[in-house]
Amino acid sequence: MSTIDWSKIAEWDEKYNVHAFVTSEEYSPVLIERTEGNYLVTPDGTRLLDFCNQLYCVNAGQNVPEIQRGIKEALDRYGFLWDIYTTDYKAEVSKILVEDVLKNSGWAAKVRYALGGGDAVETAVLFARLCTGKPLVATREHAYHGVGGAAVQLTRMVPSRSHASYPNKAPRPVAGSMFQNTFVCPTPFCYRCSLGHRYPECKAARADGLLPCVALTEEMIVSHNLSNVAAIVTEPAYGAGTIVPPKEYLPQIEDMKNRLGIIWIVDEVLMGFGRLGEWFGYQAMSDRPVKPDMITVAKGITSSALPLGAVIVSREIADFMDGIRWNHVSTFAGHPLPLAAAKANLNYMLETNLPAAAKKIGVYFKAGLEELAAKHKTIGLIAGEGMFFQLEIVKNKETREPFIKEDRFTTFSGNDFGCWPIKVVSKYAAEKGVLVGGFVPNTLRLGGACNTTEKEADAVIEAMDYGFTKMEKELL
Ligand SMILES: Cc1ncc(COP(=O)(O)O)c(C=O)c1O
Repeated sequence: MSTIDWSKIAEWDEKYNVHAFVTSEEYSPVLIERTEGNYLVTPDGTRLLDFCNQLYCVNAGQNVPEIQRGIKEALDRYGFLWDIYTTDYKAEVSKILVEDVLKNSGWAAKVRYALGGGDAVETAVLFARLCTGKPLVATREHAYHGVGGAAVQLTRMVPSRSHASYPNKAPRPVAGSMFQNTFVCPTPFCYRCSLGHRYPECKAARADGLLPCVALTEEMIVSHNLSNVAAIVTEPAYGAGTIVPPKEYLPQIEDMKNRLGIIWIVDEVLMGFGRLGEWFGYQAMSDRPVKPDMITVAKGITSSALPLGAVIVSREIADFMDGIRWNHVSTFAGHPLPLAAAKANLNYMLETNLPAAAKKIGVYFKAGLEELAAKHKTIGLIAGEGMFFQLEIVKNKETREPFIKEDRFTTFSGNDFGCWPIKVVSKYAAEKGVLVGGFVPNTLRLGGACNTTEKEADAVIEAMDYGFTKMEKELL
């Protein structure tokens, strides 16, 4: 039994911590005493199956002994060393990434470490601007790339853009944080196409077979003048925005970036390391092999045992960076402890072939979701694979009418999230001991660790069945 006084902890948390997402009036602490496997354990001993996998980042599961051993060993050897020193961890993790994880990639040459996902995006954008001498970076509606600097300017999820939202008034942007040297291109969200098309008729209607969203992306890049555009950034599937694109989309983006001679950064922060059933999302989301110029990673690189980000760059970019002096170094980038966690995690993932495990359980889980959709008239779309699924909740399957009209353009304002279908489904699923969720009012984002078992997958389906039954009674 825990000797911690949890009522004191709740009191101090409310009194001394600044909390995101809600006002202090709306806030109530969710106290967790420990984590075990794919479960969170509350102080009263309740076990919650975490099918949000925290932020889709504990890819190998919680408290993996092999990862813990790796960290403990490093803790005995090292305190702290900054970037100019080389540890075996820093050299070996890069070797593992380039040779063992990305083997035969034909593109990946070198690695640069960062503090986390957003910092990896900052680094990639800096490299792109340094290499090309051009300022502009293209992003896409509903993208999420982080909270600082260039990353927040590339972020187009309205709730995650820099602003304060209120229960009763319009949101207020954070001054000076908007869109310098970035511009926004359309999204491959076929279920609700912002260009008004239907997939796959949209590409069949064109002589060049391009998806109209790719064709318009190209026009928009050209219209900003190629002498100004350094790069385009794409998530392989959208994590926070929760959109799974058709599998010809990324290959068409690759062809486009080759035609235009711009750099293509794939932001793998959420989809990397098995999430979609392959090592990287760009591999799972493409109907033919593609070669990005850079990928940004974080989260799953250590299964979140310790924070770490990285950018993996092509030979061309590595050669350019090798030929210049650049003086941007963050104190903790390359810290030995997170790199020890990455080494242990990657070796564990390689030995147990966790991406393949995610792929397998994804097939099983998707079959359960399809049965659920046959039972519930509010499940309009199931998309995804591995341990990442997008589930669109609609009032009517034929018309695809959403419950919350703003959908992905919500500002998180308003008095009551009780009308958001995902909040209602999540609340009732939690009553059954299962955590599910998402950031889009009509879209559940689902996925556990890569080693989720069939029993756990069944428990999620059962809890959602209950959640959808209750939600349909309350909101339809
Ligand atoms: C695709 C993507 N990029 C970047 C980030 C930012 O990563 P971090 O929160 O580690 O800064 C996230 C976080 O969820 C993400 O999903």
